Amino acid sequence: MSVARGGRLAAADQAMLELNQSVDVDWRLWREDLDGSKAHVGGLQRAGVLTEAEATELQSGLDRIAEEIEAGQFVWDPVKEDVHMNIEARLVELVGPVGGKLHTGRSRNDQVATDLRLYARRRGTEVAQAVAELASVILDRAEEQLDVLMPAYTHLQRGQPSRLSHHLMAWQELLWRDFGRIHDALARMNECPLGAGAAAGTGFPLDRAWVADALGFDRATANSLDATASRDFLMELVSALAILGVHLSRIGEELVLWSSQEFGFIELADGFTTSSSMMPQKKNPDVAELVRGKAALLVGASVSLMVLEKSLCFGYGRDLQEDKRPLFDACDNARVSLAALTGALATAKFRGEIMEGALTRGHLVATDVADYLVTQGVPFREAHHILGGLVRAAEAAGVELSRLPAATFEAAHPALTGEALAEALDPRRAVERRAVFGGPARPRVEQAIERARTRWGAALA
Ligand code: ARG
Repeated sequence: MSVARGGRLAAADQAMLELNQSVDVDWRLWREDLDGSKAHVGGLQRAGVLTEAEATELQSGLDRIAEEIEAGQFVWDPVKEDVHMNIEARLVELVGPVGGKLHTGRSRNDQVATDLRLYARRRGTEVAQAVAELASVILDRAEEQLDVLMPAYTHLQRGQPSRLSHHLMAWQELLWRDFGRIHDALARMNECPLGAGAAAGTGFPLDRAWVADALGFDRATANSLDATASRDFLMELVSALAILGVHLSRIGEELVLWSSQEFGFIELADGFTTSSSMMPQKKNPDVAELVRGKAALLVGASVSLMVLEKSLCFGYGRDLQEDKRPLFDACDNARVSLAALTGALATAKFRGEIMEGALTRGHLVATDVADYLVTQGVPFREAHHILGGLVRAAEAAGVELSRLPAATFEAAHPALTGEALAEALDPRRAVERRAVFGGPARPRVEQAIERARTRWGAALA
């Protein structure tokens, strides 16, 4: 089967039609496509290519198309390939032959590059906002949980006593960098390709700076070949979302672990869990597992975009048509992951008594006791060795370090005695002693929360 086209080419083969069309995906660019066209009409009018009456007619035709699409009345036709040709064809239907003047001095190559930048700007801003909302919930929870202690882990083995808020604030640090990365990408991409034409510009005297400004871009792109044939602005944004996905998957992984019976540190609200079709007792942390899963798709999207452009010669190559799906999917998956995780964290119940209970097994204060010996003049290496011996003794006796007999401590080192030893063995004091900048002592975490609130506030203002 084949489909007639008119113009330069004879009928298209059916398989080619299926391969060629992108409107089932790129229809989602319609808002940006209409905005870009309206700015282009303004540019053509300023260049004296369109009369005021023609420009007005085109603008109102484009507005009617927006209404049709919004009302769900617009018929997307795959034979017309893509969002651009569907809209242009409808414009001609609505306003007559003057509709055919819209594409003067423009190619779909600079058109789609413009649409994509506008779209990425809009969705990227939304995702960044959602990152900020998640961070804000984390800050609230960190503030509320300031008193709760928990182990700090390395290798998923209990390492040192720390506090829950300090752990939550670590998540917040990742999100702050994600937010910055997204905004960096948005700032760099904010240039307008219109006027670049298919590859080598247009002879019509378009005021590109005016068009760029009309669309809220900082400036016009500086090279027509680059503008039409480069998508690193998408690679940057989607890579930032992939890194965000990796970060969300780490938070997700901790929620899975913490909600297990083995840890028991948190209980997720029913609204963010599922049960099992077979095992009636189950309450599964699906929200966190799905967020981990979405991270795989986000990483995949960034890889797709890079491979799409790899070895692509200048200028535009049709390969680039496949840039839409990874972009759209990445924005969608980042949004839904952030929203679900925000809800899950806002409603999760932290089980402080179990977290603090975890401090009583695993000799977590060994480093703090060694540090105490250092304050008594013992070189750290030697103190480390002494504590290693004491932990070995505790393990052999089947008790915690803090439960070893006083005589064993004193035999290991004469300073290990009395009130000073008791203080060194107390996990709460151990946390408060670690008052270095960036550490878990309460005043430091309070300060970190305050600093974070200030910087998020300023970034969102
Ligand atoms: N649908 C196309 C894309 O997204 C628009 C550009 C088509 N350009 C062309 N020369 N066939 O890339």
